[in-house]
Amino acid sequence: MEVQVMQALLSTAAMLLIVISLRATQLLPVVRESDRIVQVELPERSLAVLPERETRRIGITFYTAPAPFEGAEGVRQTLAIHSWLRLDCRPDVVLMGRHPSLKSFAQPLEPHVSVDSDIDITFMGNPMFHSMIRQAQASSSEIIVLIDPNLVLLNDFTAAITKVRAAEKNWLLVVKPIRTSMFPFDLLGPSELWLRSDGVFADDDEVRKIVKFKGVSTDCYGPGLWAWNKGDAQLHAGVVPPFVYGSGHHSEWLLTEALVSKYRTVIDGSDVITLVAPQTITSRLYNGDGAHGRPWDVAGNSVLAMQYGSLYYKPADLSNVTMKLVKCGGKVRYSLCLYNRTEVLEACKPHNRKLRLAQKSDPPASSQDWFSFGQWFGRSASARKLQALDCKTIALATDEYLRCPRLTKKSVKGSELWLPFSLEALVARVASPDKVVVLSVVGDSYRAMLMSWVCSLRRLNISNYLVYALDDELYQHAVSQGVPVVKSSQTMRASRDDCHFGTKCFQDVTKMKSRTVLHLLQLGFKVLFSDVDVYWFQNPIPEMMSYGPGTLVAQTDQYNDTEAANLPRRLNSGFYFAWPDRATVNVFVKIVKHGMTSNMSEQPSFYDTMCGIDGEHRQGDDRCVEPETNVTAIFLDRRLYPNGASGNHWEQSNVRESCERQGCRVLHNNWVAGRERKLKRQVAAGLWDYDETTRLCLMRTSKQ
Ligand SMILES: *[C@@H]1O[C@H](CO)[C@@H](O)[C@H](O)[C@H]1NC(C)=O
Ligand SMILES: *[C@@H]1O[C@H](CO)[C@@H](O)[C@H](O)[C@H]1NC(C)=O
Ligand SMILES: *[C@@H]1O[C@H](CO)[C@@H](O)[C@H](O)[C@H]1NC(C)=O
Ligand SMILES: *[C@@H]1O[C@H](CO)[C@@H](O)[C@H](O)[C@H]1NC(C)=O
Ligand SMILES: *[C@@H]1O[C@H](CO)[C@@H](O)[C@H](O)[C@H]1NC(C)=O
Ligand SMILES: *[C@@H]1O[C@H](CO)[C@@H](O)[C@H](O)[C@H]1NC(C)=O
Repeated sequence: MEVQVMQALLSTAAMLLIVISLRATQLLPVVRESDRIVQVELPERSLAVLPERETRRIGITFYTAPAPFEGAEGVRQTLAIHSWLRLDCRPDVVLMGRHPSLKSFAQPLEPHVSVDSDIDITFMGNPMFHSMIRQAQASSSEIIVLIDPNLVLLNDFTAAITKVRAAEKNWLLVVKPIRTSMFPFDLLGPSELWLRSDGVFADDDEVRKIVKFKGVSTDCYGPGLWAWNKGDAQLHAGVVPPFVYGSGHHSEWLLTEALVSKYRTVIDGSDVITLVAPQTITSRLYNGDGAHGRPWDVAGNSVLAMQYGSLYYKPADLSNVTMKLVKCGGKVRYSLCLYNRTEVLEACKPHNRKLRLAQKSDPPASSQDWFSFGQWFGRSASARKLQALDCKTIALATDEYLRCPRLTKKSVKGSELWLPFSLEALVARVASPDKVVVLSVVGDSYRAMLMSWVCSLRRLNISNYLVYALDDELYQHAVSQGVPVVKSSQTMRASRDDCHFGTKCFQDVTKMKSRTVLHLLQLGFKVLFSDVDVYWFQNPIPEMMSYGPGTLVAQTDQYNDTEAANLPRRLNSGFYFAWPDRATVNVFVKIVKHGMTSNMSEQPSFYDTMCGIDGEHRQGDDRCVEPETNVTAIFLDRRLYPNGASGNHWEQSNVRESCERQGCRVLHNNWVAGRERKLKRQVAAGLWDYDETTRLCLMRTSKQ
């Protein structure tokens, strides 16, 4: 395995070398000594395989959520990640996301680059910020870095992190990027040196010089890099709302909470760490103000930012971060110092001249790592000169912070979350290539259960599902969680506890189910309908489809394991698969009509239509054939698709094991009275994949 990777790397390297030598000889063979450009003997360049460094012992892991490695964005991300891998601190890099291109990118760079796909994403494929933070927090690394996938980082990062690590107990380092329209550098894999566009190698100083000269730094976009030590303090109080990553406000939100909570010393490292946003290519993900996000994601993030935490009341940007990491000492032999900007500015005020002079004669502060203004003003040969200069520099640096547009009631349009998709548009978007869609119809009383169901589908890598919301509360919640959802046109109130089996409300709600299925069938989609109280162990779609068109494959509701599955009223309409052929559509029209004139729930309408009221269309003990259309109802094997009463699984001490042992594809949590008891028993059985407090799908590792 390793040998293969090495060979692959070497052949790539060889190819690149040919390209470089051509470029180097043809374009720019002459290099002046005075330039800080280094020309290297090409055969000696080692590409991709870098030697381990001393500082590697620190244990740093970079977490990032890249877009698919495609097109210009892929090129930009590749450059950024290579720039991290070459840092002296030799970090590990974890790519958070589910797109297959992440795995292809990581594979040749293993074990230093790996993929974490256990992350919540919206149905449009965007990672969710709260989930990213959770995954990063779960790291065992001493230092955790969360970084935008488009940002190039130079090696001054290593010195900065070493400094902060020694000085502070619980810290959070933030860095704002420099944007530059000119970034004529490339890396050949994670190699030590930069390749300038004219074919000459350059070192970090050269790159930094160009960036500082050409770039603009603006803090309206919030930090592009967060680094913190594992330590023993939280990053902030409270819970991160489910922001869509890259659609604005999450960076400001996190910064504000970290400052307000005061659990950690927040340090601005922007002056000494070179973090570059190369703007030759416009970035989709690096957009703190959300300008490039999808309009509804941007609107959604601002609603969440308004509703949760302190951002609305005490908005913060980098100008609120008073601790700064700066270069201090001589111009040539400088070191890094931490100082409190507020304190220094205070000391610089004219009436504090006396204080300054007193400080000057004081011995330096006891802690070596803390840079107090005693040291700042006292240590130079010409203290007075430095004093004047630095007060001015610091004042200027402070003024430099722009007043950025802040989140206000006015800037947030509306207070609702929404998606711009009709049922037709949404199903076209989510359905699988063979036009299969999984549908659930649900109201807010089943909010938590819906989310657990969604999480188990995500776990099974099933993304062709769609939720039909019966009320606005559920709709809003589902949108905020990245669930593909449409709203019922009818303003149905499925209130929290009163809408259970047998009630009028329950009947109306269940009838929406068959009507929605009919609508989707008429649009030409194959539909797997599943109630949210059906727990999925495996993907049942291929098996249910194997019966072919003209079949309605359904769970039986038979509670007596010794009796036939297709006895009267034993068809469970909470879990079935239907085809969009003409005959099945006709049968569904009948079922819906039957339901409209009945004062019962829609479940009997299925059986009575397919099998006859007394079961006169039964065939064998697991089928019925509807006489007018010949559509066949097939009752699924109870051992593989048990309802809540069959197999006694819910009575076992280990429900999951009991069901999995006999090969369950799904298990229905029915045959229990009341929403509360249903919920309790499913949570108690561990057939639960969602955490309501954090609004996150449970981590896979913590399940097993
Ligand atoms: C940040 O600074 C602004 C203006 O100075 C202030 O209004 C705001 O409350 C500060 N935020 C925090 C979290 O301290
Ligand atoms: C910086 O100094 C000011 C003024 O003394 C103080 O209020 C603030 O807490 C200090 N900040 C930190 C992070 O220590
Ligand atoms: C998940 O499904 C997608 C297609 O729907 C597929 O490309 C991908 O490889 C699957 N991932 C896993 C981990 O099974
Ligand atoms: C199940 O059916 C069998 C035979 O039809 C009957 O003897 C038995 O009592 C039934 N069990 C229950 C629990 O109803
Ligand atoms: C439902 O309708 C039937 C007649 O179609 C009637 O006998 C029955 O009483 C009704 N039930 C309820 C609960 O209204
Ligand atoms: C249903 O099947 C029967 C028996 O095979 C056949 O005679 C009849 O024409 C079929 N009806 C339809 C609508 O296909």
